[in-house]
Amino acid sequence: MKPIQVGLMGLGTVGSGVFHVLARNQQEIKRRAGRGIELAMVSRRNLAQAQAIVGDQVPIVTNAREIIANPEIDIVIELIGGCDLARELVLEAIAAGKHVVTANKALLAVHGTEIFAAARAKGVMVAFEAAVAGGIPIIKALREGLTANRIEWIAGIINGTTNFILSEMRDKGLDFDVVLKEAQRLGYAEADPTFDIEGVDAAHKLTLMSAIAFGVPVQFNKAHVEGISALSAVDIRYAEQLGYRIKLLGITKRRDGAGGIELRVHPTLVPAKRLIANVEGAMNAVVVQGDAVGTTLYYGKGAGSEPTASAVVADLVDIARLHAADPDHRVPHLAFQPDALADTPILPIDQVQTAFYLRLRVADEAGVLSSITTILAENRISIDAVLQRESRDGERQTDLIILTHDTIEGRMRDALQSMQALSTVLAPIVSIRKEELA
Ligand code: HSE
Repeated sequence: MKPIQVGLMGLGTVGSGVFHVLARNQQEIKRRAGRGIELAMVSRRNLAQAQAIVGDQVPIVTNAREIIANPEIDIVIELIGGCDLARELVLEAIAAGKHVVTANKALLAVHGTEIFAAARAKGVMVAFEAAVAGGIPIIKALREGLTANRIEWIAGIINGTTNFILSEMRDKGLDFDVVLKEAQRLGYAEADPTFDIEGVDAAHKLTLMSAIAFGVPVQFNKAHVEGISALSAVDIRYAEQLGYRIKLLGITKRRDGAGGIELRVHPTLVPAKRLIANVEGAMNAVVVQGDAVGTTLYYGKGAGSEPTASAVVADLVDIARLHAADPDHRVPHLAFQPDALADTPILPIDQVQTAFYLRLRVADEAGVLSSITTILAENRISIDAVLQRESRDGERQTDLIILTHDTIEGRMRDALQSMQALSTVLAPIVSIRKEELA
């Protein structure tokens, strides 16, 4: 059979990884795909830089639209990134009847509904394994390996930059700003790190996993997003003393009792004994809880040239296998289709159910603890553990650390307001969500 023809738009770090993996493993890939996979054309604005990567082995164009216009090409890989041009190119490729493989999480999280609808109408596939957790085959696990399950929840470390920063803060006891600068120097964090450190990148990926797991539309705009820039080394230390690590988690959960789905990214205390709490550095990991399988864990590199290329090429193989199949019997790459949960709303953050870590700087005098526990009790929040740091000589204030049991977030918000108003609470209260993940 003639090799399936692929056009690659954007020959950067991941694009060159795709070129090298396809070339190096071409025999294995051909056997597994049932036919060859041939890079027929690549695009990059800078011709000389493209030539330095692919030499004269693949025709190079400087205008990505030449790939879409090429009638020989069956699959377009979009690795341009960003939202505006990428969206136009992907929609044009679909309209031209080409399958699309993309690593662009932002594009799909924001414009996914439009793009998947266009692909379905045209009978082509849009595959995006590389968009979530890089080389970890989590999309395939959710779509295929776990397809017998009712997914209960997913919790993931899906941003390597922030996990690297948190690991360094814990290991070296350093503050966020210091570690961020070091991460930028080492190339772990970008010059403008906003999307990573403020949780946006993780929320893009979480939104895609949530859509697959629960069959709901892609709804990035409903996600609750918090990053790690406000996190203090002192809270990482206190959490450690209580047997917890702090991770930036993306969590999505079905809450049948509340009639909705949780979709949230925020720093989270996780018991130190959980495997996911021990994922260090720039690595990614995703825990999926299914009703039949129980808890499963997926771990690996979430970024980088060849790890991400591994996922892109897997999608090419998938499409090569499915290309000839009847569109009605293909496994849809986005499992969102009118199913039981399709109209289920994303719950506002006030209705999310979680436990909390609280740190209060309080006056060290009689009755302070009881005034705080009274407020928690009035808001029906149950306390799990309390830690009071010894006051140093001459100090008349101390840190109170409180762990709560699960509560509804709205109740905690009310309790925080009342506690903050006490004259004996001397600084803004720090609250961090806590999940047992069991
Ligand atoms: N910047 C991302 C990370 C990788 O730090 O994990 C690509 O999403």
